Amino acid sequence: MHEKQMREQGLSALEPTLLKIGGSVITDKSGELAARMQDINRLAQEIHDANIKNLIIVHGGGSFGHPIAQKYGINAGFKEESQRIGFAETHHVMTVLNGLFMDALIWREVPAVSVTPSSCILTKRGRIQCFEEAPLRAFLKMGFIPVTFGDAVLDVELGFTILSGDQLFSYIATRLNAKRIIIGVDVDGLYDSDPKIKKTAKMFKHLTLEELKKLQANFGKPTACDVTGGMFGKIAELIPAIEKGIPVTIVNASKPNYIYKTLKGEKVEGTLIEKE
Ligand SMILES: Nc1ncnc2c1ncn2[C@@H]1O[C@H](COP(=O)(O)OP(=O)(O)OP(=O)(O)O)[C@@H](O)[C@H]1O
Ligand SMILES: [Mg+2]
Repeated sequence: MHEKQMREQGLSALEPTLLKIGGSVITDKSGELAARMQDINRLAQEIHDANIKNLIIVHGGGSFGHPIAQKYGINAGFKEESQRIGFAETHHVMTVLNGLFMDALIWREVPAVSVTPSSCILTKRGRIQCFEEAPLRAFLKMGFIPVTFGDAVLDVELGFTILSGDQLFSYIATRLNAKRIIIGVDVDGLYDSDPKIKKTAKMFKHLTLEELKKLQANFGKPTACDVTGGMFGKIAELIPAIEKGIPVTIVNASKPNYIYKTLKGEKVEGTLIEKE
């Protein structure tokens, strides 16, 4: 749908809050298909209690998407027949994880609706090339909470690939002019190196875009299974959104009430990244 049509239908000026819930929070990334049901239920309750209008949720793959995508080399594109079932399986397990989260939200009467990337997005060499985003905007306008996720998607050059939840949320944030981005992970914020490897790593409370760019090399490539680049990939994806002036807060979503408070605009320990 063109910009003009979207304006006419009131779908362009929604300024949502974008919430990314990391796969590191809702699954155990050292296992396989290991959902953390307690955290999924707690987060659904926090999202319910915060009662935020204009919210879009993106979640990652954790130990659902990543290990299967890795086993079949889905990220690198279509090379042999045996990958076809791997693509189907990667997508399927993502819908299973998504279903667990959707269940927890809808049980609490959060009007969440799942938006499946592989059905509305095509990538070109791994980057989003076309995204039929009008339904997403229309869901928001109707007062629903769209929930989307990293997924196996079709790619116009590679045949297929993996679209990370990180690329997806940054793209949506930029396209929909998000008011703010909240990223929930399983550590307290952004550190000068991976806090799980270096116990003395120092957390940043505030960073400007310029400072962030200088530090980029310090953000670790994944240790636990992650086919989309771990914290390094996440930061790289975030930069265009920050350049657009959208503030980003990285908080520990494994700690009770951190997501609730951040959604409510209350200050919690974490990292705030702003353009300047
Ligand atoms: N400089 C850093 N600061 C903070 N965390 C870092 C840093 N470098 C690496 N990490 C690691 O990044 C991890 C979070 O990224 P990761 O991609 O593994 O999780 P996620 O994005 O939540 O999961 P998914 O990709 O499944 O959604 C943390 O668990 C942390 O150990
Ligand atoms: Mg990741």
